[in-house]
This record gives sequence, C-alpha cells and structure tokens, in this order.
Amino acid sequence: MRIRVRRARRLAGRVAVPGDKSISHRAALFGALASGRTEITGFLEGEDCLATLKAVRALGAEVTRKGPGHYLVDGTGVDGLTEPDNVIDCGNSGTSARLLVGVLAGQPFWTVLTGDDSLRSRPMDRVAEPLRRMGATVVGRREGSRLPLAVRGTRPLKALTYASPVASAQVKTALLLAGLWADGPVTVREPTPSRDHTERMLGGFGARLTVGPEGITLTPGVQLAGQLVAVPGDISSAAFFLVAAAVAPEAEVTVSQVGTNPTRTGVLEALHAMGAQIQFVRGQSVTSQSVMGGHAAAEPSADLVMRGGALRGTEIGGALVPRLIDEVPILAVAACLAEGPTEIRDAAELRVKESDRIRAVATELGRLGARITERPDGLRIEGGARLHGAVVQSGGDHRMAMALVVAGLLADGETVVEDTECIATSFPGFLNAVNDLAGTQAARAES
Ligand code: S3P
Repeated sequence: MRIRVRRARRLAGRVAVPGDKSISHRAALFGALASGRTEITGFLEGEDCLATLKAVRALGAEVTRKGPGHYLVDGTGVDGLTEPDNVIDCGNSGTSARLLVGVLAGQPFWTVLTGDDSLRSRPMDRVAEPLRRMGATVVGRREGSRLPLAVRGTRPLKALTYASPVASAQVKTALLLAGLWADGPVTVREPTPSRDHTERMLGGFGARLTVGPEGITLTPGVQLAGQLVAVPGDISSAAFFLVAAAVAPEAEVTVSQVGTNPTRTGVLEALHAMGAQIQFVRGQSVTSQSVMGGHAAAEPSADLVMRGGALRGTEIGGALVPRLIDEVPILAVAACLAEGPTEIRDAAELRVKESDRIRAVATELGRLGARITERPDGLRIEGGARLHGAVVQSGGDHRMAMALVVAGLLADGETVVEDTECIATSFPGFLNAVNDLAGTQAARAES
C-alpha cells in the first residue's frame, strides 16, 4: 500500500487518537498474570497490542472482546501460565517481545518467540543478558541476542540489582516482571528515567514496588489482582497532528483525551521550546485501577489544543530524549520547517527502533528538500526548508510512514509515501483522521 498526499489548505477540528500503546500492552500482560478479571477500555486495537493479546491467550489467559477497544482478560494468576503449543509471533512489536521474555524467564517451561523482519534484527540481549544472570535460559540467533529466541524459565529466579546501560522502559519492565518469580528483590537503575507506566500500573495490580534513589525495586511474594484499566489516548499518535497543526498557517486542532504522563510529554516541551502555542484543557486523571495498598497512580490525560504559528529551531538532548524518543521522526518534520537549526543528541537508541530512524529521517525528509546531517547519536536539521513532493519510503516503520504523510501535507505538490501498511501497528484510523482535519481527501491510500 502507498499513500498519496497533497498540501492541506487548512487543518482544523477535533480528533481522537487511539489508546496508548505502552499502557495497552501492560494492561493485557498484567491482566494475564493477575487472578480474576481485568477490564480494559480504550485498548489500542493495533497490530502490536493485538500481538500481546494473542500471546497471553497462548499462555493460558482468557481474552474476550466486548466491543471496540473493550476487553476482558481473565488471568491465570502469577503461578498459572501454561506452556504454549506453538511459537509466539510478536510481529513488529518490540514491547511484546521484550516484556514477554521477562515473564517467560520465570516460567518452568519452554517458549519460542519470533517476530517480523524488523523485529528479528533488533537487539534482545539487553533483556536476555540480565535474565540469564537471574538463572533463565535464553538461547537463539547471534549468541542469543536476536529473535527467534527460546526461553526456558526457572523458579525461583535469583534476585538482581541491575544498572541498565540504556534508559529503556522495556528493559526495566522485563526485569521487574521477572522479579515476580525471584527469591528476593529485583532493583533496576536507569541512566535517565524512562516511561513509568509499569511502576504506576503494576503497583495498582498489587505488586510491591518502590521507587527510590537506588532505582525501582520489585519485592516478590504477592499475588496480583485483576483491575479496571481505562487507557488514555496515545500522545505518540497525537504528536502527528500536534506537529501538523503547529507548523500549518491558521491551523487549530484539538486532540481529545491524550495521556499526559510527564515521562511521555517531552514532545510538548520540545514544541513549546520551538515557540508552539499549546493549550491543555479539561485536564483530568483517568483512574487506571482501584486503589491497592496505596500504590495506585492514575495516568493523567487532557485535551490538547494546538494553533499554527512560526516555530524556531531547538536543542534536544540528555534526559529529555527518553521522554520523546518515539516522536523524533515527527519532531524532525517540525524542525525542518522551523526558523534556524535544530540539534538532536544522545539519541543513538533511534538506530535500533522499528528502523534506523536517524538514517531514515535524514534520507527520506532529504528527498522532500530538508537539509539534515546524520550524527552517530542524532541529527542536525537546518531549518527554513521549503518542502516539495517526492516519492519516499517508510521502510516498514509506522512512525516514519506517518511522519512522512504529515510532511506531505506541508509540502508543495504531491508526495507518495510507499509501504504504509505498517501504520496499522499503532494507528489503524490514521488516514481518516488526517482527512477529517484537512477537510478534503488530502491523503489517499492506494494498493
Ligand atoms: C516502550 C518503550 C520504548 C518505546 C517503545 C515503547 C514501552 O522503547 O520506544 O515504543 O512500552 O515500554 P525502549 O524501552 O526500547 O526505550
């Protein structure tokens, strides 16, 4: 599939984005591990999160779809997962694969995990290596660092204190989950804080979790109990419309009920630093779970209103990077239209996402007329570009595909984005939302 895009005359209106991907994965997985029923509303029915649902079914949880985004997960309890009778395919989803490896490390049976071409090329040693230290057997291609991986868990796993070399919520979550079957506490320290959905939600399910200066610690020995989880809209999906509106003259776009967890709002801070006018309205907390042991922490959300205007270049680096890591492709679109240069540093992780996003951003936005220099750990983007239509490639990366469609809305002439099926991994309704805001068929899919 490809998408043909033309410049949008004006972007205006209100749009809803699907549920948060990170929160949806966790709700499904923690629900499977809990005793009793977890009821999830706003679940993201994108391919990535559906892969997690399929995996938890294969491991013995019961999953019932009640309606769009509305699921019941009847969990097995912490000790009740069962050996799947086939390979589990995580598709394109790094979160499914890495979180599952953590869970499987504590199961007394064999499981084989695989994924699509992109996922099979992504590093798994970041979770496999510390889990081996805990006692799990994780074997596979390239010395057990790439999918397909076979995991034979053990019980109990050994307690662990681990200083992760990368700020990764997937690593943090995998190790804390493995801690449920450990013989003592598991503590994870990160170089800079990554998204904290696990800390908020797993505590709500009843896990003993503490957050302190030495790291995040899970102390085993408790059961988890099913919860109600209301998933807010995904700020990573909202970012495409926020950027489109920020740089389009006379635009005014509202994105409803977006999750505004501070560990995810780096994109709003970057846009604010670039001079964008963002307004939060009807801010509220979506209660993710009932209060258990004082640990429950809500995921905040708000309607976000963006009005078009002139942006200026900015610098992005350090602790801000994990808080906007998935938004770099779309922020790069804003940066090439802003006045003055933008420097993005400390973002080498972008090279091991669904594609090498440093290379992809430089190459594909370059085809549209942007002037971008690749750095080992980031990008320098000269501002003030006048984008012109061209044929560009998503490389099978959903966030690249959507960023390029938005670039097409802001470019002269026609842009053709190739290989756009991947958008379904995180935002199945993306094209309709684009056309609703553009008020015309600015973007058309073609097979
Ligand atoms: C995610 C963590 C991030 C992010 C990914 C989702 C999660 O990855 O890029 O899209 O849900 O935990 P890393 O943990 O590799 O940084």
